[in-house]
Amino acid sequence: MKCLAWIDGYVCDISEGQVPLEDRGYLFGDGVYEVIKIYNEKPFYLHPHLQRLQNSANAIDIEIPYSMEEIETEINGLIEKSECRGGYLYMQLTRGSAKRDHLLPEGTRPSMVMYVREFTSPASIEDIKPSSCITLPDERWMNCYIKSVNLLPNVLARHKAAEAGAEEAIFYRSGGIVTEGTRTNIFAVIDGVVRTHPESKLILSGITRMIALDILKKLDVTVSEAAFKLEDLENAAEVWTTSTGMEIAPVAKINGRPVSDTVPGPICKKLIEEFWKKVEAECYDGGKRRD
Ligand code: PDD
Repeated sequence: MKCLAWIDGYVCDISEGQVPLEDRGYLFGDGVYEVIKIYNEKPFYLHPHLQRLQNSANAIDIEIPYSMEEIETEINGLIEKSECRGGYLYMQLTRGSAKRDHLLPEGTRPSMVMYVREFTSPASIEDIKPSSCITLPDERWMNCYIKSVNLLPNVLARHKAAEAGAEEAIFYRSGGIVTEGTRTNIFAVIDGVVRTHPESKLILSGITRMIALDILKKLDVTVSEAAFKLEDLENAAEVWTTSTGMEIAPVAKINGRPVSDTVPGPICKKLIEEFWKKVEAECYDGGKRRD
């Protein structure tokens, strides 16, 4: 496949893509983004991602300079040109370029860029490597529902996790309330009930979270979108993360302590299978997933 970039309509190889020095996304983190998974040259759950982009843009008062139909056409065109069978599309919308000033500029045209990268998903449950997590205080701002490009706390927490030999950091707020991961939503099976933090300003409302909740409800699994605490996490029978990149990812250890003997546990395993069926129905006309 070709890793192509789209910069306000200009298409080039990703290595040649450039943005202006005074782009406010670069200077201030003044922008929002989306990551959309591509299976079989098709963007997965494109409309919910575009709706979330619109919500994030509205929240920080950026007017998207294209219609949703135009964006959809450009995304499909870029994926087709890239010949991407398995990967993701990154898209970023910033307030545009203006002389550096904290004051929001007037009359500046917002800028949109996107690019496609290869990324393969596990072929089977046996290929999934369960992850290790650490827990860290959530030091982010109070508007985590906005998919802002300001990711420094997430980046530093992810680095701390790596230093501890883990793949993800699970954030908690005061009182030990578990919010989400650096780039994932968190689910835990506590006393037989699947729990995840409710939608609020404290978490990003993940598209994979939404898909997982939908599947679990159809499976008649008892689900509660109710916040839980670190101590609940310690007693959880199963823990997994959800995200566009890593789909449904089982967690084997938290702070070095095994979650349970069997990972993925029965609910997580069923959820992964049903998630892949959804991918096959949406992107492979019901046929088997393949790269
Ligand atoms: N991250 N929470 C946070 C803080 C995230 O950054 C993400 C996604 C999620 C999961 O959302 P979704 O299921 O819609 O991907 C939750 C993306 C993938 C990233 O930054 O790469």
